[in-house]
Amino acid sequence: MKVLVVGATGTIGKLVVKELAPRHEVIEASKTNGKFKVDITNEQSIRDLFSQVGKVDAIISVAGNVHFGLVKEMTAAQFNIGLQDKLLGQINLALIGQHFLNDGGSITLTSGIVSHDPIPYGSNVTVVNAAVDAYAVGAAIELERGIRINSVSPSVLQESWEAYGPFFAGFDPVPGAKVALAFRKSVEGRQTGQNYRVW
Ligand SMILES: NC(=O)c1ccc[n+]([C@@H]2O[C@H](COP(=O)([O-])OP(=O)(O)OC[C@H]3O[C@@H](n4cnc5c(N)ncnc54)[C@H](OP(=O)(O)O)[C@@H]3O)[C@@H](O)[C@H]2O)c1
Repeated sequence: MKVLVVGATGTIGKLVVKELAPRHEVIEASKTNGKFKVDITNEQSIRDLFSQVGKVDAIISVAGNVHFGLVKEMTAAQFNIGLQDKLLGQINLALIGQHFLNDGGSITLTSGIVSHDPIPYGSNVTVVNAAVDAYAVGAAIELERGIRINSVSPSVLQESWEAYGPFFAGFDPVPGAKVALAFRKSVEGRQTGQNYRVW
């Protein structure tokens, strides 16, 4: 299959590429460092990416920023960062990308454990992750031509523990290779409307 990975240079993206590359033609894209450049917050940038890579069999998004901050200090503009970036950015990619998918293709988005297991500073993350999961459920019943959509919801990766561990007291970090397998299931399997929790 021809698989587009957006966020391919990131911690999870690299692991997803490693998992899929032996069996698929993987196209690596990301905002600043990717072989193909794309900004998922910009619709024209997404269209430009697809005009370069053409039709694909799978679209994977492992990109998206959120705002970490205390509720008592947060402004609507700060909260909007996660909505515009990780949420609407991934949805933009799905909305535009569906038209560049071959029949039977798939879309896989990334959410995260904080949707159900909140942490201090994480209210924006909780909302965004829950909405990403909900989008996969809601969009799945409408997509045509056998196109599927799922989300992968990882806990903190072992590979990210040094950076994020202090914010996740009592959490059990998961091996990145296990997270990558959930993306493989979404791409190579037949399920749709699923939220794959790797917790
Ligand atoms: N790491 C974890 O433990 C963990 C756990 C649960 C959920 N998640 C979620 O998984 C996603 C990826 O996490 P990560 O740790 O792998 O992040 P990361 O290492 O910071 O990598 C982020 C990737 O996304 C790309 N990117 C950022 N903004 C973009 C944009 N606007 N358009 C296109 N590409 C963009 C970056 O590209 P460039 O490098 O080219 O700038 C990079 O390839 C995030 O949404 C995060 O919330 C992560």
